Amino acid sequence: MERFDTIFALRQYLQTTRQAGRRIGLVPTMGALHDGHLSLIEAARQGDRLPHPASGPAELTHDPVAKNQVSHDLVVCSIFVNPTQFNNPEDLARYPRTLDDDCRLLEAAGCDVVFAPSVDEMYLEQPTLRLQFGELETSMEGAFRPGHFNGVGIVVAKLFHMVQPDVAYFGQKDLQQVAVVRRLIRDLSFPISLIRCDTVREADGLAMSSRNRLLSPDERQQATTLFKALSLARELMSEGHSTVQAKAAVTNLFVNRPEFRLEYVDVVNADTLRPVAEQQAPGQTAICLAAQLGQVRLIDNLVF
Ligand code: PAJ
Repeated sequence: MERFDTIFALRQYLQTTRQAGRRIGLVPTMGALHDGHLSLIEAARQGDRLPHPASGPAELTHDPVAKNQVSHDLVVCSIFVNPTQFNNPEDLARYPRTLDDDCRLLEAAGCDVVFAPSVDEMYLEQPTLRLQFGELETSMEGAFRPGHFNGVGIVVAKLFHMVQPDVAYFGQKDLQQVAVVRRLIRDLSFPISLIRCDTVREADGLAMSSRNRLLSPDERQQATTLFKALSLARELMSEGHSTVQAKAAVTNLFVNRPEFRLEYVDVVNADTLRPVAEQQAPGQTAICLAAQLGQVRLIDNLVF
């Protein structure tokens, strides 16, 4: 596995790869890697099942069943805790940084290239550019984290320019981020296929997240409430209950739980993220929530 911390060295290396006709898959991360991230690396290793981008950018959901590839795309993982997407300085300061462990995990997972730049390398100067994502910014994460998607959009666009991947892999865990990156790709005509990968969970249902390691043992137990709440809402809606009823049931689960501060629970179309009143076609309904548990902010969603 190659490891680069400068844009120049990364570009030089990837140029040779591209000239050899090999496709490039990019997995952007902020490190503190877990099995959710590694599932994206695995998806990228299987990437050559996809149509070649010459036939136009595709958007696909990763199908973990089809395996057995002999050769694979060159897999690049970026590790960069991006300051411009943190709207809370304490959250940025607390964010776990475990670069050496991350590199060991990536090597074992078959990643080919790690790009781990410093803040100065990524941002020679503070960007003056501002990205706006319209209605995608006014709900859920956008509403609760002002400026967050501007920061995500800028850093992802920079990574797309630096790596010039054919395919980019993002997790459904951050569903709104997937929608924002989809707009970014379309609005700026990046010739990149976007793959949305399923959320990887702990045995008790908690969605894996780098922030989980900041939970105390007690909070870690409590954190399963998010998945329980989402599962309950999904069940109610598949029995024909309305969005309003499903949301009320979720809210109820958090009543008399002072350890939690529920920020939002929304039932939306999984692609447009517009609120929906009832269950949509299969795979089109998403129930999303965010809650603060002690010092840690957790988000999760189910698409059904
Ligand atoms: P980070 O939170 O490190 O996540 C990196 C990628 O891993 C994202 O696409 C995220 O959705 C995915 N991911 C996280 N937890 C997952 C899980 N349990 N199962 C499957 N995938 C999971 O998201 C970011 O970093 C940043 O915003 C970034 C895109 C790197 C821009 O800075």
